[in-house]
Amino acid sequence: MSAPEIAKGLAGVYLDYSRISKVFEDTNTLTYYGYPVQDLAEKCRFEDVAYLLWHGELPTSEQRAAFIAEERAQRTVPPALFDVIRQCRATSSHPMDVVRTAISFLGARDENWGDNSPEANLKKSIRLFAHLPMIVAADHRIRKGLELIAPRDDLDYADNFFHMYFGKVPEPEVVRCFDASLTFYAEHGFNASTFTARTIISSLSDIYSAVTGAIGSLKGPLHGGANEAVMHMLLEIDSPEKAQQWIDDALSGKEKKLIMGFGHRVYRNGDSRVPHMTRYFHDLAKVKGGEKWVEIENILSTTMTEKKGIHPNLDFPVGPAYYMMGFDIPVFTPIFVMSRITGWTAHIMEQLEANKLMRPLSLYNGPDQRIVP
Ligand code: COA
Repeated sequence: MSAPEIAKGLAGVYLDYSRISKVFEDTNTLTYYGYPVQDLAEKCRFEDVAYLLWHGELPTSEQRAAFIAEERAQRTVPPALFDVIRQCRATSSHPMDVVRTAISFLGARDENWGDNSPEANLKKSIRLFAHLPMIVAADHRIRKGLELIAPRDDLDYADNFFHMYFGKVPEPEVVRCFDASLTFYAEHGFNASTFTARTIISSLSDIYSAVTGAIGSLKGPLHGGANEAVMHMLLEIDSPEKAQQWIDDALSGKEKKLIMGFGHRVYRNGDSRVPHMTRYFHDLAKVKGGEKWVEIENILSTTMTEKKGIHPNLDFPVGPAYYMMGFDIPVFTPIFVMSRITGWTAHIMEQLEANKLMRPLSLYNGPDQRIVP
């Protein structure tokens, strides 16, 4: 009998059907329920995209009004959550650890945690979506010793986050760029964190456990943590004059060096979201005087594409965009969570519709059976 084939990293394995998103190869376009993400980013606000991911259709004006009202009504988190965040501050925890702990805490407080009906899980999804900007902003302000800022229910999701984080809403170009990044980050099939969420819910656990696990997966630099790693790399390079030497050295070194913000398991000819996000990033750089990041990125991306045939991924333009907006670098991945919560929860509900426990096999390569001495 021939040995079974091992699919390391599950590369190339189709695990299940999903109707939520697809990259159409002929146009190299990521779509949510058939809509190209770049068109969603251009024509919709992020709230519409969240609704689409949960319902499969964009909202009518009445549905939109009801959804926005429901989200805004849930922006206030239980006050005990701030104590949890303050406790975490005593350590050198990464903000992703705080976000993960906060979601776990909310799950432990929800008497209805075990109700996995679609109605209950949709309600919980909207609540987590509404709470997350406050969690991220509160952790930031507590770390800095700043007063917390209450949410405003007259502001859109992105604007309200800026308000709670900085105390003001910036220029429209900045909000546009941020809102577009949330749309681009919202969903991407069976990526590592979404697969983690689906695996956890497949045991009929609960939505909080699944989201907590997904956050842990997203934190890693090969996944969501790459947006932070990109900015650390750009700061290390520091100036366009040093960029060519830096990338040449990195590629010619004895040890293989990963260039953060490049490569993707799914896209081999370039991440379809990058040209669109790059346009927002360039517009932002003009407003914020960040042309040097644009120049450095051009040098890195030209060299990586020409020398290695490896293209930038979404984290490449997003990292410096968030930096120019003024966010602290360790907050970049928590912002990703504020967006991907929509995709994760849509997948959790889809998994429950036709569930099968995840249970792959491993091919044993340990010692033969032996006697305990
Ligand atoms: N920098 C340098 N080399 C890279 C690279 C990068 N960012 N991404 C891939 N490669 C190289 C690999 O070393 C490998 O080389 P080899 O064939 O000589 O061993 C080759 O390209 C193929 O890559 P592979 O490991 O098969 O890709 P993968 O599908 O397993 O990994 C990522 C995909 C995303 C994990 C990988 O590209 C990576 O680590 N990127 C940097 C982190 C990042 O930006 N993550 C965000 C993803 S959205």
